[in-house]
This record gives sequence, structure tokens and C-alpha cells, in this order.
Amino acid sequence: MTERSQRFSLAGKVVLVTGASSGIGAHLARVAAASGARVVVGARRIERLGQLADEIHAQGGEALPVALDVTDRASVEAAFDTAQTCFGVVDVVLNNAGIGNGQRALEVSEDDWRSMLATNLDGVWRVAQCAAQRLVAAGRPGSIVNIASMLGIRVGAGYSHYCTAKAGVVQLTKALALELARRGIRVNAIAPGYFITEMTDGYFDSEHGRQYIQDAIPMRRLGELSELDGPFLLLASDAGSFMTGSVLAVDGGHLVNGL
Ligand code: NAI
Repeated sequence: MTERSQRFSLAGKVVLVTGASSGIGAHLARVAAASGARVVVGARRIERLGQLADEIHAQGGEALPVALDVTDRASVEAAFDTAQTCFGVVDVVLNNAGIGNGQRALEVSEDDWRSMLATNLDGVWRVAQCAAQRLVAAGRPGSIVNIASMLGIRVGAGYSHYCTAKAGVVQLTKALALELARRGIRVNAIAPGYFITEMTDGYFDSEHGRQYIQDAIPMRRLGELSELDGPFLLLASDAGSFMTGSVLAVDGGHLVNGL
């Protein structure tokens, strides 16, 4: 490995991934492990995490499944406690857990609104704060990578609650970056465009979905999960050592689509 590519390595780091039981979280947990990290995979569906950890072990990596509900402070603290006991202080967090059910603005109920904000915004804040408190207490640097969305920057019909939560993630990323820079903790976000996961599955198989891809995405295709690897490793590793408060769009040009 050259000195330059060494900077993208996560060897020696403990990485905690939230919402690791499927989609982007499961994928990037594998990437982190393959890049040398000891990976703590957290989600509510613990049986799926066991399979993921087995797969990572079979590839020669290290992974620890932990039960984690980002809406519950006690659960988050317990996951960090377990991570710390087994692997040491968490150096890198991938704040990925999220929900994404669409609903027209006129129909969103109080419960739906609260649940969206509780997971997609409060959960990201809670995990980031918990990680940062522990890094500061240990006197260690760290990196927090939040998964926002292009819907945190622009808007889409049927997603008023999701757009609002993700816009909050974008602002939270910048506000935390400002306060934590002097502690050596970097906070950045990735704003993905559309990728096929359990969250988006179905829609893009429909005629409407296929037409949408042609009309709205300048690259005229969806993203491949592997296209998130570079942006994630850049922000998580020492390769991004002078980056904080940034929001990287990974969207096939969707956000720069002409108006
Ligand atoms: P996904 O549904 O496969 O993954 C979301 C994960 O979060 C699931 O494993 C789910 O169980 C977990 N989760 C939900 N609530 C949780 C809670 N309270 N505690 C712990 N875990 C919880 O979907 P995907 O696409 O992988 O989503 C990952 C992130 O990427 C989400 O934040 C989503 O908003 C974001 N995103 C996804 C895009 C896409 O096109 N797939 C586009 C833009 C953003």
C-alpha cells in the first residue's frame, strides 16, 4: 500500500454503524471492515446483524453485533458501552439509521411526523452527541459521518417530514463541526441520491419510476452502493483530515438538475 492510499485505511480504528441491518449501512459496514476497522454493527434487527458479522468474520474482518434503537438514549449508551468494552472507544460513527415512508403533507399525522423526526433527526443527534462525549472524555480525535439526503437540500412532493428531518441533519452536521473542531472531532455528511435498498425498493421497478430516472437524474441511472465507498472512506479516514462541516452529494448530478 502506498503512503497515499494508506491515508484511506481504517486500520486500528473502531467504527460504529447505525442501521447496519440492511442497505447502505450493511454495505458500508463491510467496506469499513475490509478497510481494516473493527466494526460495531448496530440496529434493532439483531438476527440480521449476526449474519452480517459472520460474513465479515469469514472475510477475515472483525465485527461486533449490538442491539441499537437510535430513538432510545439508554439503548444508544448501552451500544457504546458494549463497543467500548469489546473493541475500545469508538473512533468513527456512520450515522445511517433512518426511515423513509412517503406521505402527502395534508395527510401526515402527529405520530408520523414525530416518528420521522425521532429517528431521522433526533437519532442522528443522539448518536453523534454520545460518540463525541466519549471521544472528548478519552481525549481522542474522531470522525462522525452523517447520512443526510439530497432531500435535505432540495424538496420532493410527499416527503415534507423526511425533507425537514434531513435538512436538520445537514444543519446539525455543520453546527457540530463548528463546536467539535477544536476537540479534533470532524463531522461531515453524505447526501445520497437514489440507491436501491429496502427503503426505495419497488418504486424504481415501476414504469413511473423508470421514467423518473430518465427525466430527473442527469446520469440517467440509480447509484450503485459501491459508489458510496470512496466518499465514506474519505470522510471516515485520515484522508479527509482537513474536512469538517462538509456535505458531499453522491447523486449522479440529481441536485444540479436544471430547473
Ligand atoms: P434501509 O431501510 O435499508 O436502511 C435503514 C436502516 O435503518 C434499516 O436497517 C433500519 O432497520 C434502520 N433503522 C430504522 N430505524 C431505526 C432505529 N430506530 N434504530 C436503529 N436502526 C434503525 O434503507 P437505506 O436506503 O439503506 O437507508 C440508509 C440511510 O440512507 C437512511 O438514513 C436514508 O434516509 C438514507 N438515504 C437513502 C437513500 C436511498 O436512495 N436508499 C437516499 C438518500 C438517503
